[in-house]
Amino acid sequence: MSHPTKAIILAGGAGTRLHPLSRIACKQLLPVYDKPMIYYPLATLMLGGLREVLFISTPKDLPMFRDLLGDGRRLGMRFEYIEQPKPAGLAQAYVLGADFVGKDPSCLILGDNIFYGKLDFFRAALAQVGSGGGACVFGYQVKDPERYGVVEFGADGRAISIEEKPPKPKSHFAVPGLYVYDSDVVDIAKNLKPGARGELEITDVNREYLRRGTLHVKVLGRGMAWLDTGTQQSLLDASNYIAAIENRQGLKIACLEEIAYHQGFIDRAGLEACIADSPKSPYREYLEMVLKEG
Ligand code: DAU
Repeated sequence: MSHPTKAIILAGGAGTRLHPLSRIACKQLLPVYDKPMIYYPLATLMLGGLREVLFISTPKDLPMFRDLLGDGRRLGMRFEYIEQPKPAGLAQAYVLGADFVGKDPSCLILGDNIFYGKLDFFRAALAQVGSGGGACVFGYQVKDPERYGVVEFGADGRAISIEEKPPKPKSHFAVPGLYVYDSDVVDIAKNLKPGARGELEITDVNREYLRRGTLHVKVLGRGMAWLDTGTQQSLLDASNYIAAIENRQGLKIACLEEIAYHQGFIDRAGLEACIADSPKSPYREYLEMVLKEG
């Protein structure tokens, strides 16, 4: 097995909770402070060293993602796009993405999940699944676990159950929308039956790995920010959070060109080309600063 290079970003869904904002563009294209939401999960993948990304969205929204992000070459990456005709569940990403994934390990991230902090946990998960197979998901303490997939741990710290939006959660640990899987995930997803919501649940994929004894669950520390973007208020909170850090440091969070440069996906000439095709803006000035300061 090898270190994963492929990832899927699932960025469809009905987005009805954000109506009428979601009439302008789908949720994952709405701004989080100074950039579209999709930049943040994409940045997370890039920082994990993943360079091949499949974007899945609705037939209506997919052209906007393609227009925004292109084929990925300017970032030293490779992007593919596939329509999800109906929001039939998160696990459908692996039915639609079966050819893209092939026999390789991969990662799935939800287009509305924003992580901020040290990503060592993610790199370790990629390395673990890349070398030993199985699946790796995470646990993050939240006040309102009933809104999420919830993982319960036994006395030895190993996961013993995972439930989707349980009315009576067995723990305060939610499972964030970031999952690392070996190539078995495709067959597991193909054989799933719709759950209580009538959707192919990613939680059922994780339960299957748990049943096989190959699910690893790592708890994320308190220093990690996993931001919610599901409501107007949490979207504003996420924008304010990003703004507070960016304005304090003078550095941008999830600046894709900067990450591509620092990860070695593009060289100086590549960054210069990105600057050349950016219109005059504070974002362009930021890229010029990155170039100057190396
Ligand atoms: O955010 C983490 C949570 O995401 C997990 O803890 C849950 O286990 C997982 O089921 C999921 O819960 P949500 O209630 O957030 O799922 P939702 O149906 O809202 O979908 C999450 C995102 O994925 C949302 O932005 C829309 C998009 N989506 C959803 C479905 C069902 C798609 O692109 N296609 C879909 O078919």
